[in-house]
Formats: sequence, structure tokens, C-alpha cells
Amino acid sequence: MKHLVLIWCVILLCSFTVGEEKSIWLGDMDLSQFDLETGQAMKNQTTRGDTIIIAGTIYQNGVGVGVPAKYLIDLNSSGSRFYAEVGACDRKFRARPAGTATAGANQQPAGGPGGEMPGGGAPGGAMLGGAMPSGAPGGAMPFGTPRVMPTIEFFVLGDKKVIWSSGPMKTGDKAKVVDVEIGGIKKLALIVVSQSVSGSGPGAGPFGSMAAWGNAKITYTGNVAPKALPLKAIGEEPKILTPKESDLPKINHPKVIGATPEKPFIFTIPATGKKPLQFAIDKLPNGLKLDGSTGIISGTSPAQKGTYTLNILVKNSLGVAKDKIELKVGNLLALTPPMGWNSWNAGGMSVDQVKIRAAVDVISDKLRGHGWAFVNIDDGWQADKRTDDGELFTNQKFSDIKGMSDYIHSKGLRFGIYSSPGPRTCGQALGSYQHELQDAMTWGSWGVDYLKYDWCSYRSISAGNTLEELEKPYKIMQDALVKTNRDIVYSLCQYGMGDVWKWGADVNGNSWRTTGDITDNWRSILNTGFKQTNNADYVNPGHWNDPDMLVIGSVGWSAKTLPTKLTKDEQYAHVSLWSLLSSPLLIGCDMTKLDDFTLGLVTNDEVIGINQDILGHQAKLITKGDDYQVWAKDLADGSKAVGIFYTGTTDGGEKDPVKMINWDQQKVDTSKLINLDFSTLGLSGKQAVRNLWSQKDLGTFDGKFETKVNQHGVTLLKIKATK
Ligand code: GLA
Repeated sequence: MKHLVLIWCVILLCSFTVGEEKSIWLGDMDLSQFDLETGQAMKNQTTRGDTIIIAGTIYQNGVGVGVPAKYLIDLNSSGSRFYAEVGACDRKFRARPAGTATAGANQQPAGGPGGEMPGGGAPGGAMLGGAMPSGAPGGAMPFGTPRVMPTIEFFVLGDKKVIWSSGPMKTGDKAKVVDVEIGGIKKLALIVVSQSVSGSGPGAGPFGSMAAWGNAKITYTGNVAPKALPLKAIGEEPKILTPKESDLPKINHPKVIGATPEKPFIFTIPATGKKPLQFAIDKLPNGLKLDGSTGIISGTSPAQKGTYTLNILVKNSLGVAKDKIELKVGNLLALTPPMGWNSWNAGGMSVDQVKIRAAVDVISDKLRGHGWAFVNIDDGWQADKRTDDGELFTNQKFSDIKGMSDYIHSKGLRFGIYSSPGPRTCGQALGSYQHELQDAMTWGSWGVDYLKYDWCSYRSISAGNTLEELEKPYKIMQDALVKTNRDIVYSLCQYGMGDVWKWGADVNGNSWRTTGDITDNWRSILNTGFKQTNNADYVNPGHWNDPDMLVIGSVGWSAKTLPTKLTKDEQYAHVSLWSLLSSPLLIGCDMTKLDDFTLGLVTNDEVIGINQDILGHQAKLITKGDDYQVWAKDLADGSKAVGIFYTGTTDGGEKDPVKMINWDQQKVDTSKLINLDFSTLGLSGKQAVRNLWSQKDLGTFDGKFETKVNQHGVTLLKIKATK
């Protein structure tokens, strides 16, 4: 009997180890290797986090992808069958009821560009009826534009041959079954492409559609399971370009700061160098005091309007640095674009007091010296109900908001908060509707220095069809903010409706969002920053276009954050463009996971200097080719900042599916030579050219400058005529 059992076991074991057919769901493989231009491939759901439905059939099992999508699998010659039911996902145009949103719970921000909205989309995940602006940067669609759904096509390839293709499919088509033998194949590739002309109109292009590999599985034999292979452009990854911080004392940006008379004032002199540093100012206006060991200036701003020049001295054991900072007391705040951190891209609604304090510690330790000043809580701090006397209070995650605010100020930083003019915020928390003054006073008592005011459910109060309707809620809150005892930087968030850049300053906005929500993919960068082409003339000190926050570092819109999906080149391009655009710089990453690369991105004082330049211009698009763009802006010192971007798409418009895959995982040179003709910048004669990321002079050039730019990367320069 014993022997029999033993033999049984051996047989069983053998059948499990050799020869036995097994299968693996595609959803259980490493989906992070999917190469998508938009969003992330998702197990058992669409890229928007919805159930996968193809022509009315629900797929509990499958992988939702954006289009185009590519995936390469090492079968190790052990595969036998590949099975899937494929198609375009049914579209639920979720015209969410006012105030509803799934934001915080999702991997992607609500309705953000990861979804089906071409060009950035709008918070709330829905087409916003008449509320979307016409021709807004960020691709917001004019109301009523018919949506042309792209045709998509699925391909299954084995070892550089197409072994199955779906033919053109569109939304509403029944799923097609792919059931192919894959015996002997070493590498299997799965591809979905869009058949429409990229970017030729609404709904067209690669980013507007969602597809799914329903019930997809690979059957194989042997012990080695099929494994996803890295596919994203395998080129030379750029390194940390920002030079190591010098030990010598140095005074950084900003060089100008605004305040209104007789309000509490807090500002830290941005300086770096070996610690301890000692700070001194020749003459401080009455009411202000300087902490000589931290550089924090606090107190009450002068009653007298005017410009106060602060002659600053910073020293340490190695030397002395001197510079001027202008304190302008008048009606304007944010004389350079606000720089700081905001919680939204670092966990969405999961924000709490502990995370904020952790962020404060990192910012004060590593970033404050480079000008980073604001610590802003986004959505998710509010209690469920107002108190009996109508007061809006915090939820349990913020048990001591005043203590937290004091902590932020004690580090010389400034405290920002978030609300909506509607009854609810985008994350469905309580908004300020009909409690505007009361809320402003509450925030004043907490020591708030910045408000992001997000339209969201205000659409249930007003369609926002006229300029008057669009301005109204922002005026109401502005009237309330000036009654508080604080200088509160006012950040309008309504995604560009009604060409907000034309009137944002009239409601005393300091910045205004011009696009839908950003996410961490290149398509989103193209649809936000690169769409700021018609609004540069409205920018000046105190008034900034805001194409949304930075998506660098570890980001995410639920409690779990992950490294940004932007490549390193894309991150350089992102930060460079935001600097050229004089956009608010709001880092949106988990600060406790701040890695050296990300730190390098946000501590380059020459790049920051482009953003904080006191002239306050926004870069304009100078030249644009099929796959490159040159943006430039004038700087206060008479020079120009120029960004040369290689914006081209991943496969350069490749039509042959076989060629879309880097089958042999070869390193590919993703760079392109781009020629900058100085005359396009209105420059003639010899020019001194400096690379801002490496902070190196490149020499003097006559007429033109040629540079090698990595795909989706940038060369960021400062160009100045030589004498
Ligand atoms: C909207 C905004 C985001 C964020 C969320 C919060 O989507 O655009 O930046 O503030 O609301 O719910």
C-alpha cells in the first residue's frame, strides 16, 4: 500500500513538473511592461478603472489597455495556445451627477487624460456639456463637437510574423476570438493600434480609445512560465544632470516677493551651502524680523506700500554670498510662480496630517533653500458635515489642523488648502457653496496662505455659459479672502473654461488651471504643457497659467504611489517646459520617497531661475516640426531661455506591426539632431550658449546651434548675445 502511495506521488509530481499543460492569465503577468502612450494596463478593468464590457458582454477577466498598446512575452518555446476575446470597450459617457467623482479611489485622477477624453479631459470624468471652453489649451473640446471614435486593430505576432489580426474594429463590435497555436514560438507580441490619423480631430489619435484583451490566457508546458519582456525604448537613460550642490553659500530664487500691507508675513531666504548658514539683512522694514540661523523672515508686512530692497548676506565657514531680494508691498501676491508641494498627485483623497508633516520635513530639509515654499493640502481634508453653526471642519485624518499649520510656518513654509465653490468638491467632499465668507474666515484662523478653488460641482449651480457666470463664484470667494487677516494666494481651478487666462486676473486670481488633470504619461504632457500656445500674453508677475502639477517622483491617486511612468527624458522635458512656461511649480509626489534623480530635477537653481525670472514672461512656441518643438522666453537679464524638445511619438508613425516591436531588446539610439536657427528667435550675431541642466557653457555660436536630443527629451539653453 505504502509503495502504491509513493508511486502515485511520484507520478503526480512528474505530471506537475514536466509535460503538464498549465495556463496563465494575461492579467496575472507583469502588466507594467505594457508599452502604452496613455494610462496603465489594468487587470480585469479598463484603464479608467471600469468593468471591461465589449459590445454589452461583461468580462470579469482580461486586461484593459489604451491604444496604441504593445506587449512582448518570452515564451521560452514552451507555449502551446494563446486565447483571447478582443475588442474596443463600450464607452460609458459618465455624465456624473454634480459633485460625484471617483477621483480618490482611482489609479487615475477622475476623468483625467488616462481616460477617454481626448486632450486632457476634465475632472468629473464626463463631457461637461456647455461648460468646456472652446479651443482651450489642453485640448478641452468645444461643446457639441461630434466625437469620431477611432477604429482599432489587434495583432498577435510570433517571432516577427503576424499570426493573427482582428481587422478593423470599433466600439460596439462584438468581441473577436483569437485562438492560435503558439508551439515553438520564442517571443509572442500583442499589439493594438489605432487606425485613425493621429491627432487629426476629436476622438481620433491614439489616446481616445480603450481596448481589452478579454479572458486572455497563454497555455504552456514545462516549469518556466511565460514572462513579459521590457519593451519601452531601450536607449541610453539620461543621468542626473544637475551638478552636486556646492558647499559655498549661495542665494537662490525667488528674488522678488509680494505682500499686501499689514498682513502676517512669512518668507525664508532661499539659500544653500554647507550648514550651518548665517543670515543677515542690512535693513528690515519695521514689523519684520529675521531669524539669523534659519533665514526665516516673519512678522507683519509694512503698512506703507512700496518696494523694499533687502540686502541679504549669507555666510558659512567657507565664504560669503550677497544678493538683493525685493519685497514689494502692494496689491499683488505671487510675483513669481508659486513653488511648492501639493498632495493630490501623491495619494489623492488618502492625504492625512502625517503625510503632510512628512512632506514638510523633507521640503524644509532639502528643498526650501531652492525656493520651494508652499505645502498645499488638496481634496480630502474636510469633515462630512458642517457644525450646527455652519462651520466647515476637518475630518479625523486632520485632528490638529492649526498645529499642522503652525508646524508648516515654524519651518518658514506656507500653508495651502483646497475647496470648491460648489456644494461638493471633485472628490465629493464638502465644498464652500453659500459658506464662502465663513470658510475663508475659518482658513484665516488656521493660518492659510494659499487657496486652490476648484469649480467641480458648481456646475450644478451654474452652467457657466457666460463670462459673468464663470467669474461669479471666483469673485465671491475673492471678496471673502480679502476680508481675512492673511495674504492668500488665489489659485483658480476650472480647467480653462471660458478662456480663463483672459479674465483670471480680473477676479484677482494669481494662477488658473488651463487644462484637465495631468497624469504621468507623455500624452498627458503633450496635452497640457505643450498646449499652452495661445495664452502667453496674459501672463505677468502675479498672474500665471497653470497646466497642472508636476508628475515626477512617486505618484498615484490612491494610497499607493508608484514611480512616475514618465521616462527620465520625459521628466526633464516636463520640468523644463513648466519652467519655460512660468507655470506654478507644484511637486506632486510622495516626499518620503524622494529619490536622487527627482531631487536633481527640483534643485537645479538655473532651471528654477527660468521659472522664477522676475520679468515674468511665458515661453512661446517658436518652431514646430513633425516631431520637435522649440519654445523660448525672454529673461530679465536680456538673454533668452530656449527649450528644444524632441516630442515625436514612440514608433514614429510605424505602420508595420512587426517593426513596432524591439524584438531583440537592442539598445536603440533614440536621439535626433535638431538644428536651432538663431534667426527664428530674432537673434543675429554671435551668441553665448549655456546648457542649463548641466550648468555648463557650451561656447559661442554664430547663426545656429545643433543639438542631439533624446526622444521625448529636451536640450534647455540660455542664449545671450556676446558683446
Ligand atoms: C480636480 C482637480 C485636481 C484635484 C481634484 C480633487 O480633479 O483638477 O487637481 O484637485 O479635483 O478632487
